[in-house]
Amino acid sequence: MKQVEQLIKKFDLIPHPEGGYFKEIYRSQGVVFPESLPKEYQGSRNYATSIYFLLTSDTFSAFHKIKQDEIWHFYSGSPLMLYVISEEGELSEHCIGNDFGKGQIPQFVVPGNHWFAAKTINPDDYSFVGCTVSPGFDFKDFVLPERKELLDKFPQHSILIHSLTRN
Ligand code: GUN
Repeated sequence: MKQVEQLIKKFDLIPHPEGGYFKEIYRSQGVVFPESLPKEYQGSRNYATSIYFLLTSDTFSAFHKIKQDEIWHFYSGSPLMLYVISEEGELSEHCIGNDFGKGQIPQFVVPGNHWFAAKTINPDDYSFVGCTVSPGFDFKDFVLPERKELLDKFPQHSILIHSLTRN
């Protein structure tokens, strides 16, 4: 898809371990020290970070979690479905897009410590979005579980977990 190649090139996007492509576009210079952060963060974190994130319909963003809330912003392309599972196993689905009459929303906050995955809705299309977190992103806070771990935790969501995990 030509638009996908153009976006990757224009914004210097690189593959993300969860699937899709990203580029960090903001990392605040200010730092929060460990004594001011909840103890599950080990070390300091920047105040906030923000990325561009590009997903295409031939793949998906696999279930993962981070410690902090993550704000998703819709920019262009196909609407994207976010699947969120709480630690208690409650599933919710949220459609990020700009057809507000159809119930799509331009911004959604995934709560911290929730498992979440994303899928572009339209076939042969892409979703271009932004993701902002505070405290700032650190791969130390990023958990990309094996399929089996999630299936053991949430057998009631096995079909969804099968479709949105890789191994
Ligand atoms: N930086 C690198 N990966 C990510 C991510 O998945 N989310 C956010 N917000 N920032 C990142």
